[in-house]
Amino acid sequence: MSAGAEPYLRITGQRRLVGELRVNGAKNAALPCLAAALLSDQPSRLRRVPSIEDVRRFLEILSVLGVESDIEGDQVAIRPSGVCGGSPPDDLAAALRASFLVMGPLLARSGEASCGTPGGDVIGARPLDVHLAGFRALGAEVESVDGRTIARAPDGLRGATFVLDYPSVLGTENLLLAATLARGRTRLVNAAMEPEIVCLAEMLNRMGAQISGAGHHTITIDGVDRLSGADHELIPDRIETGSLLIAAAATRGQVCLQGLRSEHLEALLGKLGEIGAEVRRAPAQLDITVDENARLVATNLQSLPFPGFATDLQAPMTALLTQVEGTSVVHERVFENRMQHLDELRKFGANIIARGEAPRVIGPTPLTGAAVAGTDIRATAALIVAALTAEGESRIYGIGHLSRGYADLAAQLRYLGADIEQVGSVDTLTN
Ligand code: UD1
Repeated sequence: MSAGAEPYLRITGQRRLVGELRVNGAKNAALPCLAAALLSDQPSRLRRVPSIEDVRRFLEILSVLGVESDIEGDQVAIRPSGVCGGSPPDDLAAALRASFLVMGPLLARSGEASCGTPGGDVIGARPLDVHLAGFRALGAEVESVDGRTIARAPDGLRGATFVLDYPSVLGTENLLLAATLARGRTRLVNAAMEPEIVCLAEMLNRMGAQISGAGHHTITIDGVDRLSGADHELIPDRIETGSLLIAAAATRGQVCLQGLRSEHLEALLGKLGEIGAEVRRAPAQLDITVDENARLVATNLQSLPFPGFATDLQAPMTALLTQVEGTSVVHERVFENRMQHLDELRKFGANIIARGEAPRVIGPTPLTGAAVAGTDIRATAALIVAALTAEGESRIYGIGHLSRGYADLAAQLRYLGADIEQVGSVDTLTN
């Protein structure tokens, strides 16, 4: 590859995925649990941390704010310096959405927090109103100046009942983090119920917080004066698990995934069953089998907050639905601009009719290899699923997105028998 050329994944499709592997810890649990480290001046240890770009960037942000860390295999040892404050550098804030998670802890701990416009996948407007209204409900003054959010609570935060307009995942996490050190009781009503919220609440409780109800619509937090460190293992990554299950089904494979929590994947497992994939489940293991001659049939789905079908699996699932018989309707109901993979899927020959937020996927369509570009983490995963089923060679560009959220998806797929290799290296600072 010539210097400066864009890296890509080269995939030769139509290899059946077969084998067993253990999934990684969850990206979307790692980031809020790392943010929790800002709440204490004592060391913590996080286990099962995925080796992804967003974690490395978040650790850089923590370092600027006074929290050092060491990566030791899949563990992160966190060493707060005792003084914590400041603001994430703007380029790092803009690199990932979860950078905004430093706001809640900094506000609670030092009475002041600020952050530039957080970045992340471009999949919709992604406003911050839920976070900001929640901080105000806890007694903070909040202003936005040139895209920078500044929040102040010089006399400390005080507990309150706050109804979230929408059960935002990061919004719930930010308010949970802030409320742990507020005076008195906070009730978060219409809170997000994602497993990652439960994982964060468990870590905070290990640190000495008093949180009940995480995983339900209403979370109650009784504020405490200080928090200690904690030793905490992250939950398995349900999106990585789901992506691998979808890839296995699309290649009519036979795959066993281990070290997971099948109860986090009910909506996907239901849909895989509806299309005709055979899934055998145990609490920590899933076996998926699709015979080469099995007849897979269409289904409809809508993405929703947990426990509904995860929006992060909508794009990979859409790629799979090109391979089933009949018309499937896919309704994206969480983000308003999360259909950018459709044009790229059509380059493989997919037959997809756009209908606003609910396109029709008509299948089965034999796909042929194509050169395509991912626009966000999960859209790139969807293109990989399509390439795995396609006849001939594909090139997937935009793979910097992939390394933000998947620890080693290409290596996992290769291990299961896919013909996939990365050509060129990803510039981790600019993707
Ligand atoms: C998190 C996940 C992301 C996942 C998403 C939905 C992380 C790091 N990212 O993102 O992978 O796709 O949950 O499961 O955990 N909204 C508002 N006001 C707000 C905040 C959000 O209206 O203040 C809206 C958004 O525009 C969007 C919807 O709520 O339409 C969902 O967003 P949210 O749950 O906040 O997603 P994230 O937490 O950003």
